[in-house]
Amino acid sequence: MSGADGFGGQSTSASEVPPLVHNPVAERTQDATVLQHTAFGAPEGVGPSDQQVTLEVPAVEQHQEPPVITAASSEESGPADVMGPTGRPLPTFPEPAPVGARTRARVVSMCNQKGGVGKTTTTINLGASLAEFGRKVLLVDFDPQGSLSVGLGLNPHQMELSIYNLLMQRDIALDDVVVPTGVPGMDLLPSNIDLSAAEVQLVHEVAREQTLQRVLGPALDQYDIILIDCQPSLGLLTVNALTASDGVIVPLECEYFALRGVALLKTTIDKVKERLNPRLEVEGILGTMYDGRTLHSREVMQRLVEAWGDTVFHTVIRRTVKFSDATVAGEPITNYASSSAGADSYRQLAKEVLARWQRDA
Ligand SMILES: Nc1ncnc2c1ncn2[C@@H]1O[C@H](COP(=O)(O)OP(=O)(O)OP(=O)(O)O)[C@@H](O)[C@H]1O
Ligand SMILES: [Mg+2]
Repeated sequence: MSGADGFGGQSTSASEVPPLVHNPVAERTQDATVLQHTAFGAPEGVGPSDQQVTLEVPAVEQHQEPPVITAASSEESGPADVMGPTGRPLPTFPEPAPVGARTRARVVSMCNQKGGVGKTTTTINLGASLAEFGRKVLLVDFDPQGSLSVGLGLNPHQMELSIYNLLMQRDIALDDVVVPTGVPGMDLLPSNIDLSAAEVQLVHEVAREQTLQRVLGPALDQYDIILIDCQPSLGLLTVNALTASDGVIVPLECEYFALRGVALLKTTIDKVKERLNPRLEVEGILGTMYDGRTLHSREVMQRLVEAWGDTVFHTVIRRTVKFSDATVAGEPITNYASSSAGADSYRQLAKEVLARWQRDA
């Protein structure tokens, strides 16, 4: 994960930034909607991130979705030159090897200051998929909204102890707060609205940015993977999550405006890496809520890959109501609709993530 842009993507100068995608449907469509947007959150100093670009998007999209390549079909046939939804040949990800002797847990934050992009959904379902592959997983709900806890069936009002107590009370141990989930091998550090008080109280603490890292210390020997679900902000809680992490996964909704905040997020990650946590890396950018029937989604993926290269996961998560249904049921989609395309996508993401870690080890 290296590269001039720090995201490990292709180094791009302003003159090299490819033109916006030619859109024949928009040309044909009288009633085109004109969107103003910046150049896809390209990194500061390497792309025209503050330059206004006009993009035409058809009001009614008429394109057919190109042949769908599902995780299952790609694994079965495994042709290396089949185009994936990101516009690159889709590799076949190896079946994860059984976990050997446990070493220090890998800590990964799901981070994007934009709300509703799939951070919590990815934490739950990537975690459950990794657990299916035999990894011992701890999920950390680090959002006062407590969506991760609710999404795993907990009632925020009936929580005796939450991560707030662990952060603020010296006499509370990790094991006092961790609860099992319905997924074998996956535990949860729950959260509720109390955590919002921690953000204010931590300001007065010594080493306030390292508080989460300190309390997660005992978990490093007990788990293979720790996934932290961040709140949609770049405040002190998120800085704590990044300081405690080895890597960051950036879920990003496949729509144009979602790309605008990536440069700011990158700046925050760089600052944390420089000042607080030199081992922090971007694991990958994950396209979520992808709808391959729309030109819009496909163009966003294409621009994302042009700007960030192989940092973008080959796996994309398609838009489906099954995710909301699973949340209401308080289960990961891998349990709720185990054979659905959504469940398969997160299993494929787990394989891709494990393959990246193996490659980088
Ligand atoms: N691939 C998807 N297709 C359809 N709906 C999805 C998908 N992923 C997530 N959702 C739904 O979108 C909503 C927001 O998702 P989620 O809570 O995971 O986002 P978030 O980034 O964690 O939000 P926040 O910033 O508020 O914490 C939820 O209702 C979720 O069920
Ligand atoms: Mg969330």
